[in-house]
Amino acid sequence: MTHPPQPPDEQWALLQRLTHVSRLATLGEMAAGIAHELNQPLTAIASYAQACDWLLARGSTDTAEIREALQQITAQGLRAGEILRRLRYLVRTPDSTRALADVSELVEELQGLIQSDARLHDVRLSFELARNLTAVQLNRLEIQQVVLNLVRNAIEALQSVAPAQRNLRVRTAHGGDAAEITVIDSGPGVDPRIESLLFSPFVTTKPTGAGLGLAISHSIVRSHGGTLGYRRGSEGGACFLIGLPHAQGGA
Ligand SMILES: Nc1ncnc2c1ncn2[C@@H]1O[C@H](COP(=O)(O)OP(=O)(O)OP(=O)(O)O)[C@@H](O)[C@H]1O
Ligand SMILES: [Mg+2]
Repeated sequence: MTHPPQPPDEQWALLQRLTHVSRLATLGEMAAGIAHELNQPLTAIASYAQACDWLLARGSTDTAEIREALQQITAQGLRAGEILRRLRYLVRTPDSTRALADVSELVEELQGLIQSDARLHDVRLSFELARNLTAVQLNRLEIQQVVLNLVRNAIEALQSVAPAQRNLRVRTAHGGDAAEITVIDSGPGVDPRIESLLFSPFVTTKPTGAGLGLAISHSIVRSHGGTLGYRRGSEGGACFLIGLPHAQGGA
């Protein structure tokens, strides 16, 4: 695991303020996947509505067929609404509330969003979520932001390998006195030249990267009394591990 140098306090404060901006930026990067995801139910609604119109114009008396199309319109409308609901949840104004949470549930809430991003970038995705994890005291939105940062980095790194080799795994597990979330990819792994500075702000190898994702993630996890570490994965790619201490006295 890499132990980054500690930035001075004012830098941590700045990173905290940048967190909200960064979350919006991450969602901005994910916008293409979200747009694609929304487009599917909307296209379906338009074609079912067109079919209804066509049946009625033809003077069809087959109400079963028309009702079937209308039911599809309702279902697809609800699906689009669900996508937007998830999105609204993630862009809501941040607060500092912490509550007991199961990290598997927290990751599950992101599943749809991650799936659409992975699909769009030809990444094979798998989730291994442990059941009955001990609860952790956390700020849900902040920890979800960390997971999304790690996933975005993995998907970006995977673009440099052939589509057939793009694997991404998100796991949760019991880890002694902490709950663990691991993000593992089959990409090239972190460039050894930046490994020792990985969690410092403004360290990037990307032409348009801000180099803030990992620094912010590290600051969030640290403020929870947890750890964020990197090691090379068994498949040669990158493996990032978030460890969040169990609530005092368990749950
Ligand atoms: N999964 C990964 N595989 C390979 N390299 C990675 C991975 N995750 C991070 N890195 C390296 O670490 C650097 C820093 O990541 P970080 O998320 O902090 O910034 P960034 O992705 O460059 O920019 P942004 O601020 O938009 O997140 C990246 O530029 C990349 O070189
Ligand atoms: Mg990043």
